[in-house]
Amino acid sequence: MQRSIILVIISDLNKINHMTKFIHIKKKIDNFKKTIFMPGDKSLSIRFILLSSLSKGKCTAYNILKSEDVTSAINNIKKLGIKIILRKSKCEVYGKGLSGYKYKKNLVLDAGNSGTTARLICSTLIDTHYPIKITGDKSLRKRDMSRIIKPLRLFGVNFKDNNSKLPIFINGTKFTKPINYIENLGSAQCKSAVMIAALKTFGVTKIKSLPSRNHTELLFKNVLKIPIKIKHQKKYDFIEIKGKKEINPFNYKIPGDVSSAAFFIVLTLLSRNSQLVLKDININPSRTGIIRILNMMGAKIKINNKRNYKGEIIGDIFVRSVKKLRAIKLDSSLNSSAIDEFLLIFLVASRCEGVSSFIKLSELNQKESKRLDWGIKILKMMNIKVIKIKNHGLKIWGNKNFQTNKDYVVKNYLKDHRIFMLSVITALSLGGNWKIYDPGSFKTSFPTFLKTIVSLGAKIAIK
Ligand code: S3P
Repeated sequence: MQRSIILVIISDLNKINHMTKFIHIKKKIDNFKKTIFMPGDKSLSIRFILLSSLSKGKCTAYNILKSEDVTSAINNIKKLGIKIILRKSKCEVYGKGLSGYKYKKNLVLDAGNSGTTARLICSTLIDTHYPIKITGDKSLRKRDMSRIIKPLRLFGVNFKDNNSKLPIFINGTKFTKPINYIENLGSAQCKSAVMIAALKTFGVTKIKSLPSRNHTELLFKNVLKIPIKIKHQKKYDFIEIKGKKEINPFNYKIPGDVSSAAFFIVLTLLSRNSQLVLKDININPSRTGIIRILNMMGAKIKINNKRNYKGEIIGDIFVRSVKKLRAIKLDSSLNSSAIDEFLLIFLVASRCEGVSSFIKLSELNQKESKRLDWGIKILKMMNIKVIKIKNHGLKIWGNKNFQTNKDYVVKNYLKDHRIFMLSVITALSLGGNWKIYDPGSFKTSFPTFLKTIVSLGAKIAIK
């Protein structure tokens, strides 16, 4: 058994694919000091592909994320008759205007694992004159589509849906009408789906939305120059969009992804005598809940070299090891700005002094896999005391001296990229002997994840 495990060196990591069974980690890492870069932001990369395909001419993105989710968006937009050229991290999209897609009979779009692609692309298709089938992988076929079907039906779009799950069929109309919509999930995907449909519809669409990442608003306002009004009031954001204004070609430099950076921030925090600088990261406040929450727990994360790029805020993140972290009782106000990072926050809570609690997180169970349940499962597996509060929260009893040398196996049958990466960070920061299955999954969002991990000195074997 041991003999069939090969120790990989950095260049061999390219060999990891969906056929690789598992990786093996036996040793935590400490004592690293480095400056690293993260790949381009996933939300912005997918939005660039979809929105540039609706523009009137050639748009270029630099530092686009080259991951499977972004490839899904590219391949589907190509099927709609739009030329896209991808060279290294530069991507050119030759948009043909708001009504420029070529709809063919019996078209099938496959969003793979990407919820953002599946949900947002429906809005770009609202004028299709043939039904289009939209499907995805095993994980995506379990996810709720009613959250975008409901508002798009109000625009006048027809759906044949399968109990709100993929595969669905969308059939559009040239006569969509603007809507007033209340988005109450705090979901940027829903808000953006309504915004993109508004772009393709005559008249003014009004959205009242719980706060969520605001990349689509910033792109509409500062890059696409769409007539848009945005007001923030106590609990809700109010957005008004006047539709049917053609989009001029635009260029965009995609900043580093803070959701990818989060894995390295937490690894550094929990390792001994280590520090990292993460350069050129998008620190848009609607995405940096993790930094605020970790600083409330006693991390001393700093941002340097802050600048504004077309409304997004970019900066360099500085993080170092911290010996003493404190437990936190978190209300729900930062939930949406840390929605993809809670598994990492739970891991940090397990190393805090005291009992931490988190509430109103049922949306975590709507992700690529049931992440709230996974958080509990991984902590329990390590004998860390944790309980679920109703169906939406967690209480975690932390132990600042926790370390382990036991054996652990993580089989993640829906191949959730964030469960895989969380398991790697847990193994490297808490110790133990880990077999982590489905390593191909990290290519969904962060293809250079293991390469960066190994560059910090971690030893990883593959099977
Ligand atoms: C995303 C929004 C979030 C996030 C997802 C990407 C986006 O989902 O979890 O990874 O790009 O808009 P919700 O908007 O459903 O919370």
